[in-house]
Amino acid sequence: MHPDCERILITEEELAAKVREAGRWLTERFRGKFPIAVCNLKGSAVFFTDLLRATEVDVEMDFMAVSSYGADTISAGKPRITRDLFSSVEGRDVILVEDIVDTGRTLVTLRSFFAERGANSVTVVALLDKPSRRVVASQADYTCFEVENHFIVGYGLDYAERYRNLPYIAALKRSVYEK
Ligand code: PRP
Repeated sequence: MHPDCERILITEEELAAKVREAGRWLTERFRGKFPIAVCNLKGSAVFFTDLLRATEVDVEMDFMAVSSYGADTISAGKPRITRDLFSSVEGRDVILVEDIVDTGRTLVTLRSFFAERGANSVTVVALLDKPSRRVVASQADYTCFEVENHFIVGYGLDYAERYRNLPYIAALKRSVYEK
């Protein structure tokens, strides 16, 4: 384990098993369709590429970025779209892939963003959910794991842009983020 981590919360094996389940769920739901899968950078990048390899759905990949936090642990209010999509989502079935639903603000912002752009449907797949942190009512359509209010890193999630490449999800040592 990385020395800055307190303990592993979700192992590589547990992640792989849940990602396979989520992939199968997408396969059932989108059989015969050609949805556009949107990766909300950066945190979702690792989950996104594993998830799309775990589904048999024929998907287009797209990428965007929304920023709610800076290099800090505290939510900074309304999310901002910082990178737009490559393709139009008009008339398309969108699969939004998120690493974590925290306050819920990003999901609310993105659901209305896709609606304004004329998407036919929006299905949200989230790796993690921290329901104890919710500020606005919103929920993913499929959630892999619920987590408690630890400061978590790994499998795409960062602290100050570090630890995204850890293959597991771990709680960060308090001494690291309180420095
Ligand atoms: C994180 C995460 C979600 C969002 C969830 O992104 O990836 O998109 O915050 O928080 P919310 O439910 O409170 O809106 P972040 O802004 O940290 O960017 P990153 O993915 O590039 O790390």
